[in-house]
Amino acid sequence: MLRFAKRFENLSGSVVREILKLTQQKDIISFGGGMPSADSFPVEELAQLAADTFADHGAQMLQYGTTEGYQPLREWIAGWLQAKGWKVTVDNILIISGSQQGLDLTSKAFLDPGDQVVIESPSYLAAFQIFSSYQASYLAVPSDDEGMRMDELEKVLANNSPKLMYTIPTFQNPTGITMTLERRKKLIELANKYNVIVIEDDPYGYLRYSGEELPSLKALDTEDKVIYMGSFSKIVAPGLRVGFAVANQEILGKLVIGKQASDVHTSNLSQQIIYRYCSQGMLEPHVEKICATYKAKRDAMLAAMDKHFPKSVTWTKPEGGLFIWCTLPEGLVSTELLKEAVEKQVAFIPGAPFYLNGQGQNMLRLNFSNSEMASIEEGIRRIGEVFSKAVSR
Ligand SMILES: Cc1ncc(COP(=O)(O)O)c(C=O)c1O
Repeated sequence: MLRFAKRFENLSGSVVREILKLTQQKDIISFGGGMPSADSFPVEELAQLAADTFADHGAQMLQYGTTEGYQPLREWIAGWLQAKGWKVTVDNILIISGSQQGLDLTSKAFLDPGDQVVIESPSYLAAFQIFSSYQASYLAVPSDDEGMRMDELEKVLANNSPKLMYTIPTFQNPTGITMTLERRKKLIELANKYNVIVIEDDPYGYLRYSGEELPSLKALDTEDKVIYMGSFSKIVAPGLRVGFAVANQEILGKLVIGKQASDVHTSNLSQQIIYRYCSQGMLEPHVEKICATYKAKRDAMLAAMDKHFPKSVTWTKPEGGLFIWCTLPEGLVSTELLKEAVEKQVAFIPGAPFYLNGQGQNMLRLNFSNSEMASIEEGIRRIGEVFSKAVSR
């Protein structure tokens, strides 16, 4: 018998990845995965930048690098954030292999078995896997259309002593909701008062299609309580695995120690490519371009939902990001309806895995970035048929 570690006892592979396997049949219209559109990847530009990197610094790039990350990229990111008004220097930036790694390193640095982590409910299920692998226990705080509920958060903080709080305040996964400015300020006030470290996970914040940009929690942070996770996955390409953590130097020092143990440093080639892409002025026009495409897809999906979904179904109207969150009448079970949808060659992700307490049975997540514009209405029409049939039953 193999004797695995206790911390892996209650962990299984991602439920969603299992569902996604189902939906990878040819000809299926999938609103399932949370992926950016592969058509959006600037393949030729990135290939050229890779070639330039080999030509300019081949041997150096193939050598080990520093754990903190490629210095010019760290400097570029610091400048980018300073231009948004953040009080950061290059010493506050750690390059990570995607924001996913940042969540892992933060957990590794802070969590002992049994430590409490506050999560907003629903939330990104891969984060649950990470916290659980460090044997965390959870304090779930409900959310509404304005993000995590601060009255509930205060109750939780007053009665417990969590070390970490995890939130995706902008274009949340799975709901697409953005936390209001008032709640952002309140969250910082509570984090200070109760001495909790906040992980601000922000892979979607740069993808805004309407409404006003809000300051990040990190920009509002007054006592260095926030660790910000940024990522190039959704604005350039996830396969490069480049993200960045922003935190005070004491925290960052711990993350660096954790990263040394886990992968030494993020791929030099990927960092070079991202650095060149950003410093040569390609990022901003690219983000503008993908935002225009995703906006059109979001609008097409929302319009199709208006047209084809029964009146008893409700959904969020996100100002950015990749997801719409849908609520069916109480009693309907989205996992069951997914089976019917897959028979009609269309798929979504059921809501329950985004909760830790069995809630979300009548909810589901729709992704609009990774489908062909032309198939969005048809996919929604088929899902609408499944919903209408279920409602009338
Ligand atoms: C909320 C959230 N955090 C983190 C990640 C992981 O991103 P990265 O590719 O930067 O590791 C994702 C990816 O879908 C996500 O939705």
